Amino acid sequence: MILRAEEVKKDFPRAGKSSNYFTAVYPLDFVLESGQFTVITGKSGSGKSTLLNMLAGMLTPSGGKVFLDDQDIYSLDEKTLARLRNEKIGLIPQGHTALLSLTVLENVLLPYILYNKAQPPEKKAKDLLDQVGIASLMEARPNELSGGELRRMAIARAMLMEPSILLADEPTAGLDSENTIAVLSLLRQAADEGAAVLVVTHENEADHFTDHVLTMDGGRLKG
Ligand SMILES: Nc1ncnc2c1ncn2[C@@H]1O[C@H](COP(=O)(O)OP(=O)(O)O)[C@@H](O)[C@H]1O
Ligand SMILES: [Mg+2]
Repeated sequence: MILRAEEVKKDFPRAGKSSNYFTAVYPLDFVLESGQFTVITGKSGSGKSTLLNMLAGMLTPSGGKVFLDDQDIYSLDEKTLARLRNEKIGLIPQGHTALLSLTVLENVLLPYILYNKAQPPEKKAKDLLDQVGIASLMEARPNELSGGELRRMAIARAMLMEPSILLADEPTAGLDSENTIAVLSLLRQAADEGAAVLVVTHENEADHFTDHVLTMDGGRLKG
């Protein structure tokens, strides 16, 4: 599976500017292949999250296209795209997306429960929680978790469906060094098992785990 962006760009409206819009990502090409672990570093505000969300099918580009294999994903209707995301793309977004009324275990199982009626893969979810070091919290509610524990829950959830593409936005933010290594090792392992993995981060803690490091600066990607 290959994720490919062609001339993808994003403008946001911005009040008070002479042009009335602001280019967060200038037209760029990007390829993410199976088995590769790529990192994009860059300062806060450089456009990393904007690019990642466009690659994830979550943010429609102002120009250009995103292809999953040969499928132009933004040509799909919202329902088909949602299904494709659920099956193929594991997204670890910046910020929190936990459902507060569900337990940690139920949150991790959610991507499965959304589209499947059969018995959810609890053992797999528990194994993932164990690998990110929060198995003891599986019956807790998200509001009982620290920021770092919520990030780790989001990582377990993103990996549940064994997606062929894993996109992680600052996955180690707020984690201590031990858990940073645990999370990056897990993402590395996913790449070694054939997933295409992209991490964006303003830190350089992931450099040892990756195949490629790119830098984003002012909406432009540099090799
Ligand atoms: N929804 C939005 N509306 C307007 N501006 C935005 C929006 N999202 C991001 N931006 C702007 O785009 C730029 C890049 O943001 P972002 O992609 O979040 O950067 P990073 O993830 O590298 O910190 C920032 O200047 C930010 O203010
Ligand atoms: Mg960001």
